[in-house]
Amino acid sequence: MATASATVHQNYVDGQWVPSSSGQTFENRNPAKTDDLIGVFQRSNAKDVDTALDAAARACQRWRLVPAPLRAEILFKAAQIVVARKEEFARDMTREMGKVLNETRGDVQEAIDMTYYMAGEGRRMFGQTVPSELRNKFAMSVRQPLGVCSIITPWNFPMAIPSWKIMPALVCGNTVVFKPSSNTPLSALNFLNVLIEAGVPKGVVNMVTGGADVGTAMTTDPRVSVVSFTGSTDVGRQVNQAAAPTFKKVHLEMGGKNVVMIMDDANLELAVDGCLWGGFGTSGQRCTAASRVVVHEKVYKQFVREFVARAKSLVVGDGLIAETQMGPSNSEAQLQTVIKYVRIGQEEGATLATGGHRLDKGAYAKGFFHEPTVFTDVNPKMRIAREEIFGPVVSVIPCKSLEEAIAIGNGVEYGLSASIYTQDINRAFQAMRDLYTGIFYVNAPTIGAEVHLPFGGTKNTGNGHREAGVAALEVFSEWKSVYIDFSGRLQRAQIDVEQI
Ligand code: UN1
Repeated sequence: MATASATVHQNYVDGQWVPSSSGQTFENRNPAKTDDLIGVFQRSNAKDVDTALDAAARACQRWRLVPAPLRAEILFKAAQIVVARKEEFARDMTREMGKVLNETRGDVQEAIDMTYYMAGEGRRMFGQTVPSELRNKFAMSVRQPLGVCSIITPWNFPMAIPSWKIMPALVCGNTVVFKPSSNTPLSALNFLNVLIEAGVPKGVVNMVTGGADVGTAMTTDPRVSVVSFTGSTDVGRQVNQAAAPTFKKVHLEMGGKNVVMIMDDANLELAVDGCLWGGFGTSGQRCTAASRVVVHEKVYKQFVREFVARAKSLVVGDGLIAETQMGPSNSEAQLQTVIKYVRIGQEEGATLATGGHRLDKGAYAKGFFHEPTVFTDVNPKMRIAREEIFGPVVSVIPCKSLEEAIAIGNGVEYGLSASIYTQDINRAFQAMRDLYTGIFYVNAPTIGAEVHLPFGGTKNTGNGHREAGVAALEVFSEWKSVYIDFSGRLQRAQIDVEQI
């Protein structure tokens, strides 16, 4: 596995391409065929982060004063450039991440949507104007930037998730130090190049690739005001603790164990389609993946029969090949997690209805492939029904009523997304009200969030913030309340109480 021919990519700091001071690099390989070396990236360290933070802090002094509609012009341009390169970016993304082309096109599209949406915010960014309790006094609130934002993103949505964070950060007038996942740095680089071409001034966006050293520096340094992180709940907890002593604003987007509830009056064909897409789309590697399906006992057998047959027939392979319906896991480590949970499910006594094996023969030999796997007769107390697997494994759980389905749905430590299949509007609304999640769907699976609504979850999925939509502005700006007294005299709030 020679690295000599692969392009060596550098960090981007203060408008310059620079190598890491560590002198070390890491390789980016295709998870469908690991002998395909995509590129070599910098294994950066705390010193590199220090330089990037310094640049970001300096750049913020100018960037925050650029009128928001002008900042947004750069975002509009960036969105147009991504539109023009969508296919190329999708292909690069499938090659490094593994999901099928249709899905990487969707990922790039989500970045386009978010970039346009946030560009629009440049002319909105609404605050409040309210009456003052005193005469000849004006009262309002305005959004102000916080400063330097540390942005740490995962590999499963290599362009969409960086856009969810970087775009609101920029339009609000902050500057950014960005650490993409080491498994998908090429998509990050593609996105960064777009921003540079669109005219983002030097120092405003800096990218430092690497591992935990980089993340630690980005979450502890006092120059950082905001940390926005998407990843596992365990790492999210570490990020929160690392950032606490310096009182950073921390936005966390973490695990999920999302439920689809199928009632006895559901359109079963629609439900099977939804569960396949929700469970096996992105090879189950979405935080929104439909990894639990709770089915009313009256339709349980029929659902299982049809769902298992469809799961069995999914075409697994290299996502760049047109016929492929499900790609590989993103890494050996991720695949090992899948294999571990299949063993756990069997030990716990669930029925392995289909799948359960690594695929490693023939065309699969050099990749991280696994069969689409369905466990049935799953008890909600089992680990496969409670813990996030992040792979192509779906647990099907029988239930007797809507109330029981809701209790099972809520009975996990996560709260990202949930869904119900029913024709009964009363049941749909009851479930919508009672599922304690950040996202809820009726007659659709748990995946497929759109960029103009808040995205995030309850319990161990998040820490109360939301990204996307107007909610993202709450993370990347803070309020300043402004009082303007034009009475020409001292007026004391709460003291000078006027009689009408
Ligand atoms: C994620 O899984 O981290 O709603 C993000 C969805 C996508 C985003 C998923 N739009 O499934």
